[in-house]
Amino acid sequence: MLELRNVSTSYGQVSMLRNVSLNLRKGELVCLLGPNGAGKSTTFKALSGQLPLDGGEVQLMGQEVARIGTENIGALGVGFVPEGRRLFPSLTVRENLKLAYDASRSKARFDERLETTYSLFPRVQERMAQQVRTMSGGEQAMVALARALIGDPELLIMDEPSLGLSPKLIDEYFETVARIHAEGKTILLIEQNAEKALSIADRGYLLVRGQIAVEGSRESMLSDDTIRHMYL
Ligand SMILES: Nc1ncnc2c1ncn2[C@@H]1O[C@H](COP(=O)(O)OP(=O)(O)OP(=O)(O)O)[C@@H](O)[C@H]1O
Ligand SMILES: [Mg+2]
Repeated sequence: MLELRNVSTSYGQVSMLRNVSLNLRKGELVCLLGPNGAGKSTTFKALSGQLPLDGGEVQLMGQEVARIGTENIGALGVGFVPEGRRLFPSLTVRENLKLAYDASRSKARFDERLETTYSLFPRVQERMAQQVRTMSGGEQAMVALARALIGDPELLIMDEPSLGLSPKLIDEYFETVARIHAEGKTILLIEQNAEKALSIADRGYLLVRGQIAVEGSRESMLSDDTIRHMYL
């Protein structure tokens, strides 16, 4: 569903990602861990076609991202939760969902998709007519996730979606992500919270200074010295 092969990028003269390779097979929940500034969001931008590559290749849903152009990414059946959520604050929840639905390739009607969304996010349902800017951080996090799912994507890619939530809400958030995975979605979860991410992931990668430093199954990541030293 996703494959990065030896991806390198830079910001101006400064090299950022160096030979990053990672992949995601159908049905997996994989996490990409790494400290601040490691290059996680840069990886998100590279795999979603927002950043030119110096080298390597990104395949998303079997297509080479560099060839299809950013404007066609929405039609690939991939839901994105970007860093900072990037909702439209002055629009209502419904309007935010509708814009994402219109950009997707969903065959189901918008109303049907909303019904599915309500079952996952009952609190979003109560607030469909509310302007996003007036919602709490936890509610906005759920709206961002609902928006990524509204087009019924096969693959969900999230960049630190639980950032800023209280510990209790983080638990709820991760339970929701685990449920979405159990219902069949393939997920790439970019996270700083290694303990939480590894509690629901099948396997993971650790990015350090623009390179993959560790990769492996949940169990091997949890017992890895570098990861234990960094996080656990
Ligand atoms: N547009 C840019 N121009 C120059 N440098 C940038 C740009 N965007 C990011 N960087 C730098 O690249 C490095 C990696 O940034 P990135 O946002 O990928 O980190 P991250 O792993 O997502 O960190 P965080 O956990 O804090 O979100 C940082 O040192 C950052 O300052
Ligand atoms: Mg980031």
